[in-house]
Amino acid sequence: MAPGTARLALPALLALIGLLPPGLGGAQISVHPPEATIPRGGTVQVNCSTSCDQNPKLGLETQLTKKEVAHGSHWKVFELSDVQEDSHPICFVNCGHQLMASMSLTVYWFPERVELLPLPRWQPVGENLTLRCQVAGGAPRRNLTVVLLRGEEELSRQPAVGEPAEVTVTVLAGREDHLANFSCRTELDLRPGGLGLFQNSSAPRQLQTFVLPETQPRLATPAVVEVDTQWTVNCTLDGLFPAAEAEVILTLAEKKLDSTSLYSKDSVLAMASVKANSQKEGIQQLACVVTLGDRDQKREENVVFYSFPAPNLTLSEPEVSEGTLVTVECEAQAGTTVSLEGVSSESPAHRAEFRLNASAADHRRSFSCSAALIVAGHLLHKNQIRELRVLYGPRLDERDCPGNWTWEEGSQQTLRCQAWGNPVPELKCHRKGDDALLPIGDLRPVKREVAGTYLCEARSPRGVTRREVVLNVTYHQNNMAIIIVVVVAVFLGTVSGAAYLYNRQRKIQKYKLQKAQEAAAMKLNTPATPP
Ligand SMILES: *[C@@H]1O[C@H](CO)[C@@H](O)[C@H](O)[C@H]1NC(C)=O
Ligand SMILES: *[C@@H]1O[C@H](CO)[C@@H](O)[C@H](O)[C@H]1NC(C)=O
Ligand SMILES: *[C@@H]1O[C@H](CO)[C@@H](O)[C@H](O)[C@H]1NC(C)=O
Ligand SMILES: *[C@@H]1O[C@H](CO)[C@@H](O)[C@H](O)[C@H]1NC(C)=O
Ligand SMILES: *[C@@H]1O[C@H](CO)[C@@H](O)[C@H](O)[C@H]1NC(C)=O
Ligand SMILES: *[C@@H]1O[C@H](CO)[C@@H](O)[C@H](O)[C@H]1NC(C)=O
Ligand SMILES: *[C@@H]1O[C@H](CO)[C@@H](O)[C@H](O)[C@H]1NC(C)=O
Ligand SMILES: *[C@@H]1O[C@H](CO)[C@@H](O)[C@H](O)[C@H]1NC(C)=O
Ligand SMILES: *[C@@H]1O[C@H](CO)[C@@H](O)[C@H](O)[C@H]1NC(C)=O
Repeated sequence: MAPGTARLALPALLALIGLLPPGLGGAQISVHPPEATIPRGGTVQVNCSTSCDQNPKLGLETQLTKKEVAHGSHWKVFELSDVQEDSHPICFVNCGHQLMASMSLTVYWFPERVELLPLPRWQPVGENLTLRCQVAGGAPRRNLTVVLLRGEEELSRQPAVGEPAEVTVTVLAGREDHLANFSCRTELDLRPGGLGLFQNSSAPRQLQTFVLPETQPRLATPAVVEVDTQWTVNCTLDGLFPAAEAEVILTLAEKKLDSTSLYSKDSVLAMASVKANSQKEGIQQLACVVTLGDRDQKREENVVFYSFPAPNLTLSEPEVSEGTLVTVECEAQAGTTVSLEGVSSESPAHRAEFRLNASAADHRRSFSCSAALIVAGHLLHKNQIRELRVLYGPRLDERDCPGNWTWEEGSQQTLRCQAWGNPVPELKCHRKGDDALLPIGDLRPVKREVAGTYLCEARSPRGVTRREVVLNVTYHQNNMAIIIVVVVAVFLGTVSGAAYLYNRQRKIQKYKLQKAQEAAAMKLNTPATPP
């Protein structure tokens, strides 16, 4: 049997006796106050008084430390101190027989510990969360309530039961609970006893809630990668909460890649640039792990690394003279198929070639060769280009430098004369006779003075070629002048002819008249002879 039970047994028995009907003569005993609530360890004064006439001997039955502090003939005041727990002291008096009255002494004290038990570091949204609050100590328990709180909002209010008392409440965690502060509080309500409401609170605990969808992240990566090249990989996952707390780790062949994460409202994008070094041919595993809260989602992909050098495209000679045979050859690594521009491939092979007779038109011609390789179902191409240089010329023919131009004076014309060749020839055109230069280019207007026969000469290290260019200029206005001159000449001729005839006629008449006058004069001077 516990010692506490023994201590309580006697007063309880006496209290039971006190309920017996009062003794003869109607003598009574009373206690004041009949009930008291005091802080634990506190002090209280109890006044026992009686109506018994016969020199009463009052006493107080208790196991508490007691001291008589005052008395009268029919009363006695005791002081009880260091009251640690509830008790029921009993006043008694012998008045012929024993009279008793008991009082109720209630001790109150505040809880020594109010604690919200630790929350999970991360709580998934949509799952139940149980909040537990432990309260150690505190009395009287029937006046002690435990309140569980989210911020200031009361989630549950329950009596404190047990020692320590544990109170729980289950809440469905939501996004709004992220970073919410949870706590619990005790309320010792002694207001009916006039002492007030006493509250004690636990330290708050902050909750972090999260959403990580049940889907795998998306990995954006090329399926095949050429060794010793730099490439990028992206990993994204949507529907995250809070997205900024998500962590992404990208690994290649179990080695972590340096990545940068970009966050948006509800998603994360991690980008990694994979360095060109230390890659080997073959299959390697690329993985992306998105961690949020205490969970993660993983995605894995295989990346095939291949080596594929560009085909070797060779010209037998990169620079040849016109009319030389050139061999164009393309060769790629075994297992590939080359296609050489200008060759119709009958059967796929990893090398191809053809010959050509280099002409001026082939100067600066590009030859291209493409090699194809299939890696893990992906068709890949590599190209190579070579340019042929052909030495030719100098060339100065009718097409490039027409030899006969006939233009009207004053018209607007363009004189074309160009020499061709590789290396580029030098062109000089001089007029026969005076060495004037041929006016190549725009002639506006065409002048009479440029007419003539020119000798053009194109000269390059490969030789010299010559050509005559005749430039005729016709002039209409000068024909008019000739016509006028002719007309004037005809007119003048006619006029002078007419004047001559007239003059001659007049001279003849004058002569005739003179002859007549002479004859007449002779007739007068000679004597008339008879016929
Ligand atoms: C104790 O109670 C009696 C009876 O009610 C009263 O006469 C007396 O004054 C009280 N004593 C004190 C100290 O209050
Ligand atoms: C959460 O708990 C309540 C009862 O407290 C229960 O009805 C509900 O099904 C639980 N929900 C989940 C998701 O466990
Ligand atoms: C919770 O408490 C912390 C620190 O005590 C405070 O910074 C934060 O704002 C509180 N959260 C809410 C939702 O009140
Ligand atoms: C404790 O609570 C009970 C019932 O709720 C009430 O009757 C009593 O007076 C309270 N005690 C105190 C000291 O207030
Ligand atoms: C409980 O609250 C009371 C006042 O309400 C205060 O005096 C006391 O120190 C508190 N106890 C603890 C353990 O904080
Ligand atoms: C990765 O994301 C960035 C930014 O959105 C984009 O510019 C890039 O093209 C992406 N790379 C791949 C391989 O998808
Ligand atoms: C190349 O062509 C030119 C003119 O078409 C010809 O004169 C020459 O003989 C050819 N050369 C060869 C090697 O066939
Ligand atoms: C291309 O030429 C280089 C050097 O001449 C040689 O090392 C390489 O093996 C050749 N590649 C192919 C596919 O023939
Ligand atoms: C030049 O052209 C003109 C007319 O176009 C023609 O009459 C003349 O005969 C040509 N001369 C030569 C040398 O071809």
